[in-house]
Amino acid sequence: MKTALVTGGAGFMGSHLVDKLVDNGFFVVVIDNLATGTWDNLKGYEPHQVLKMTWDITEYPSEDVLPLRDADVIVHLASAASPVHYRRLAIETLRVNSIGTENALKLARKFHARFILGSTSEVYGDPQISPQPETYWGHVNPNGERACYDEGKRFGEAMAMEYHRQFGIDLRILRFFNCYGPRMQSEDGRVVPNFVRQALENKPLTIYGDGQQTRSFCYVSDEVEGIYQAIVRDNLSGEVFNIGNPEERSIVNFAEAVAKIGGVSLRTEFRPLPADDPTNRCPDITKARQVLGWSPQVSLEEGLAKTFAYFKQT
Ligand SMILES: NC(=O)c1ccc[n+]([C@@H]2O[C@H](COP(=O)([O-])OP(=O)(O)OC[C@H]3O[C@@H](n4cnc5c(N)ncnc54)[C@H](O)[C@@H]3O)[C@@H](O)[C@H]2O)c1
Repeated sequence: MKTALVTGGAGFMGSHLVDKLVDNGFFVVVIDNLATGTWDNLKGYEPHQVLKMTWDITEYPSEDVLPLRDADVIVHLASAASPVHYRRLAIETLRVNSIGTENALKLARKFHARFILGSTSEVYGDPQISPQPETYWGHVNPNGERACYDEGKRFGEAMAMEYHRQFGIDLRILRFFNCYGPRMQSEDGRVVPNFVRQALENKPLTIYGDGQQTRSFCYVSDEVEGIYQAIVRDNLSGEVFNIGNPEERSIVNFAEAVAKIGGVSLRTEFRPLPADDPTNRCPDITKARQVLGWSPQVSLEEGLAKTFAYFKQT
């Protein structure tokens, strides 16, 4: 049986990844400090399937606290991800993406484990080209309100790449683009839970700015399949992949889709655009298609219907 260590595994994406790993015969150790996640996302597992460790990865877990002597793969996902949370946890976000990333890399070095870094499309900042290929260096405000997240992730990429260059860590960097689905928190301020909750409560959908900014939404099972392919494939060390859905939509167009699938008539309320909000987001996934054999399979209609079903029952 293979062993995986997942930091941030009690969160939204991490818990879906843990499900996928267990389904594929992995024993999984999860390190999570529950800053934005919950063990409820991993209910029902026995300790021989998933071992849950409440721990802040900015503290290096020494041998006496880590119940693990070896690992085949480490997936580092620990970090607040929504602007509401990373603004509230700004310094913690910088620390987990820098010190936390180095601690996870140190473990990978010790165990000779493959290392998957959960990065983000936010490393492209407010991009000046669209779609964004992995070779684009980005357009980021280094000290603005989003910098704790954007620059934190950029630092994490630089640190991971140095561990790859200097110590031969078998590294894959994955840049996720807006992922959505069940287990997102309804109050985390991201557009999908906001709109779905507002539609269910028959309230106007809140649009920031004029709503012409674009996003690309990837359903969580697709995103997790992309991570899984990066985990199991060989000969990818040092490679960077965009993992997201290239179907780009304006926020106004997305609000129309949510209202339609939610069966409500569209009402909107406009608010000022937050500082440094990106004007567009669209992944170029040519490399993931060619090298990982991966592309999204779930339509927006299907993914939103599942998300509505989840929010209705919670
Ligand atoms: N969801 C998206 O659309 C998206 C897009 C791009 C990148 N990402 C990245 O993917 C990862 C997962 O995102 P998510 O949406 O599941 O977020 P999430 O907030 O649901 O999950 C993050 C998890 O990390 C844990 N965590 C935070 N700080 C920690 C620390 N110091 N030590 C241990 N655990 C800690 C949290 O408690 C939480 O369980 C993040 O790294 C995020 O930056 C997500």
